[in-house]
Amino acid sequence: MTFLSLARSRRSVRTFDGKALTAEELQELVSFADTVTTPYHIPISWCLLDTEKTGLSSPVIIGEKAYFTGKISRVPHAEEAFGYAFERVVLHAAEKGIGTTWIAGTMDRGAFERAVSLKEGEIMPCVSPLGRPAAKKSLREVMMRKGVSADSRLPFEKLFFQGDFSHPLSQAEAGKLSDVLEAVRLAPSACNYQPWRLIVTDSAVHFYLQRTKGFGAGRVFDTQKIDIGIALCHFALAMEEAGRGIRFTIADPGIALPERTVYIASYQLL
Ligand SMILES: Cc1cc2nc3c(=O)[nH]c(=O)nc-3n(C[C@H](O)[C@H](O)[C@H](O)COP(=O)(O)O)c2cc1C
Repeated sequence: MTFLSLARSRRSVRTFDGKALTAEELQELVSFADTVTTPYHIPISWCLLDTEKTGLSSPVIIGEKAYFTGKISRVPHAEEAFGYAFERVVLHAAEKGIGTTWIAGTMDRGAFERAVSLKEGEIMPCVSPLGRPAAKKSLREVMMRKGVSADSRLPFEKLFFQGDFSHPLSQAEAGKLSDVLEAVRLAPSACNYQPWRLIVTDSAVHFYLQRTKGFGAGRVFDTQKIDIGIALCHFALAMEEAGRGIRFTIADPGIALPERTVYIASYQLL
């Protein structure tokens, strides 16, 4: 399967078949997670949680028997790193037919944090149920997908730009980067807000966060920076598949920014 078709086929799964994954399947996922590296090199400690042993659940998820999450030190760029690594695991799970849903809001956060013994100075931004998707989505899942237009994404020209923010980039103009940017466009995000904006220049692709109105940085962590980590992950995996290395830097090119927009990182094309 190409990376683009994997990015196209992954979706949040909120209705599971009620059966537990095998211990081998769960262990394989954690072992894979342990191999994942990010451009930020911040360690993440992965955790599996059995719903029957812990009593954990989410009001939007049905039929799950396990959750997956991770703990990371509360340091600069923790959110981008967490988003990048967790999405790498989510995509690996999707390849194996295992359903996931990123969850940052619809859970009893305190209960999950206690279950992983979260310490001072650590954050556990998101969790995900793990399991096989049920044959039919629950009505709640159907309504939730509708509520955030989960099956659609912003058009290319709203997300990608050439040189600066006043020149939208169409898919036809993206040339060799067309499929790579399409894979970024399809990435999941909290409330499906898709806050990433990318500027393509001759030598680099610059990543920005354009904060959604009314969705500020949280007190403990910044959910929209997790979304940017996810976008960075999709970009990196698509570039890797195209035979390019993963070459991110943080070097703000000083391009004029629209409101609510901040620079995050750059990928060096040359
Ligand atoms: C950081 C993050 C947090 C999310 N939090 C929740 C959540 O609390 N509850 C939920 O049902 N979905 C949550 N989602 C899932 C998004 O709603 C979903 O990814 C988006 O609507 C796109 O749908 P898709 O994943 O099926 O492509 C979250 C996604 C991300 C990336």
